[in-house]
Amino acid sequence: MTSPGTGMSRTIPELRRYKARNGQPPLVMVTAYDAPSARFAVEAGVDIILVGDSVGTTLLGYDSTVPVTLDDILHHTKAVRRGAPAAHIVADLPFMTYQVSDEQAVANAGRLLKEGGTDAVKLEGGIALASRVAAIARAGIPVVGHIGLTPQTAGLLGGFKVQGQEFVTARALLDDAIAVEHAGAYMLVIEVVPSALTKLIAGRVTIPVIGIGAGADCDGQVLVMHDLLGIEDRHAARFVKRYATLATDIREGFAAFASDVRGGAYPQPEHTYKMKSSVLAELRDSLEHDPL
Ligand code: KIV
Repeated sequence: MTSPGTGMSRTIPELRRYKARNGQPPLVMVTAYDAPSARFAVEAGVDIILVGDSVGTTLLGYDSTVPVTLDDILHHTKAVRRGAPAAHIVADLPFMTYQVSDEQAVANAGRLLKEGGTDAVKLEGGIALASRVAAIARAGIPVVGHIGLTPQTAGLLGGFKVQGQEFVTARALLDDAIAVEHAGAYMLVIEVVPSALTKLIAGRVTIPVIGIGAGADCDGQVLVMHDLLGIEDRHAARFVKRYATLATDIREGFAAFASDVRGGAYPQPEHTYKMKSSVLAELRDSLEHDPL
């Protein structure tokens, strides 16, 4: 990974210790699923690219992340790596590619590294999944935890709701964070929890906490690119801030093209290719003497 402005590469041990204090700015993570957006993210100075299983809802037309397969993530991770050869990339382990056993988790994480070219994998779950985190880390594969609202199992959590608002669930999330750190994760994503709880968690783990809908007291922030760029413009969670309105630009671009084609305004001579008049004359002549 290249640090913006320094041209220096950050290592996993360096990231593991990263805390957004003592003058260190929060880490910036965005999702990307293809080569050009990965390149744009790097050119914009983003620190970490997440090939999230949100690809299921952003690109693939599913209404949840549950149907996303390992092959889907492999396909998109390879594209992101081609677009951003030096970026720090984290790829999601999709639902049911790590829940069955430690062995299954290690094998699939290994495929994302070896075939996909990711630097690290991310999986959802706290204490209950800590043995998976430990097994993957023991295999020498950098692993990121993800607690709070975990979209793969959102049904169990009662839907896409703020997590950790009661004593029992808040305490459980603190225990989850510590368990994931102790299991060997080098970074922790925490999604849609009250900011006061995030602050407690970030103060009690030594690894960086990357928040999404988790307030400002994090060591980094992540947003889904389709949300932040306004490619998805139908609905947005409270935590989403839109930095562009690409859906409008895309619709307007398609409509303008359609209108130009139908009205004869496209293509113009500057969009077309010429051939030598002598070749054209020869062709016409040959058609006269030797019709098709
Ligand atoms: O899949 C994804 O995009 C994610 C983020 C929401 C953190 O896991």
